[in-house]
Amino acid sequence: MSKIQMFKPIVLVILLTLSFFVSCKNEKSSDKEGVLQYYALLLGSSAPLAEITDADCTDPAPTFASLGQAGTTATCSNCHNAGNANAGFDITSYNSTRNRITVGNPKGSLLFNKINSGSMRIYNTNAINKAIYCWTLKGGNP
Ligand code: HEC
Repeated sequence: MSKIQMFKPIVLVILLTLSFFVSCKNEKSSDKEGVLQYYALLLGSSAPLAEITDADCTDPAPTFASLGQAGTTATCSNCHNAGNANAGFDITSYNSTRNRITVGNPKGSLLFNKINSGSMRIYNTNAINKAIYCWTLKGGNP
């Protein structure tokens, strides 16, 4: 092997290493947010949820049926019904759902935390998120 041939791979490795450092040098962590959102999309969770506050809850007394109307029957009930209650939770039952909230405190409730940031996040939508938040806040009515 000639000397030039021997140095080729070494030069290549040096160039690759340099290009890596040069391309990463000016990256801010905020630049990565968009990338993380795409990863989240690829992994199955949908677009980021809209932030919800108490002021969004205009109905003074939403009923239990408002959850189904917002989409829990269509989205959650195949895994959470009377015959197939994953984690013992039947979302078509008022009592089963009522037992998983602290009335007046959605952010302190299992149900809202599960769908907002927990393991059920991937099934959540803005409509379901709002309905569960407001139903919990405004009394957990039948
Ligand atoms: C594909 C099946 C599936 C779907 C769809 C699904 N879940 Fe779940 N859910 C599970 C499983 C499995 C568990 C238990 C493991 C866990 O807690 O992550 C669970 C646990 C839960 C719990 C915890 C109950 C407890 O007492 O520990 C809640 C609350 C919940 N799900 C709410 C929902 C809501 C609301 C939806 C719809 C937005 C939903 N789930 C959609 C499968 C599902």
